[in-house]
Amino acid sequence: MKFLCVSGSLRQASHNTGLLRFAMGVLNDLAPESETKLYIPSQLPLFSSAMDRDSKAYQGVADARKLVSAADGILIASPEYNYSVSGALKNWFDWCSEPYLKSPFAGKKVAGISAAASFVGGARGLSHLNEILMSMMAQPFVHPEVLVGESFKKFDASGELKDEATQEFLSSYLKDFVRWVNA
Ligand SMILES: Cc1cc2nc3c(=O)[nH]c(=O)nc-3n(C[C@H](O)[C@H](O)[C@H](O)COP(=O)(O)O)c2cc1C
Repeated sequence: MKFLCVSGSLRQASHNTGLLRFAMGVLNDLAPESETKLYIPSQLPLFSSAMDRDSKAYQGVADARKLVSAADGILIASPEYNYSVSGALKNWFDWCSEPYLKSPFAGKKVAGISAAASFVGGARGLSHLNEILMSMMAQPFVHPEVLVGESFKKFDASGELKDEATQEFLSSYLKDFVRWVNA
């Protein structure tokens, strides 16, 4: 199996990237024969539908689309910015969303998780994420969500996940995610 872990935060000590670093360790334990990659969509140009007709001309875009196509399961960790997903993530989605109904996301198994500062975590952002996935005909992972609220209490200054209850819940979520991707 191939897993692609995508962080929507470009911040150095990002809680969402830290959540994925922890998740990648768990995925490696659960499925040691699998390949797990971390991707942060920080190098893509801003999407324009005029450029999209010629997307092979942009190396980063072609690579981003190949990563999505090759993955059996995608795990996305998005910060919540102003009640939605990050712009970096939305830009990546738009680049990987064409052609309509036949994009690299069509039929793809995708799970969204989030760490955010508010008490309810990134609940509003994740609901936008699921709508975006549905617009591209991806298969969102339906499961009690990993919403890490008050994330500033649960990660250290370098962005490592320290909260044991979150580690435990995320691990059991990933166990179910791997089973679903493998089914
Ligand atoms: C522009 C901006 C908007 C934000 N909007 C929200 C929000 O809507 N809800 C929330 O819980 N936190 C919000 N935050 C706080 C983020 O949840 C917090 O900075 C979090 O650590 C970002 O994730 P990261 O650590 O992975 O970068 C916002 C932060 C920024 C910079």
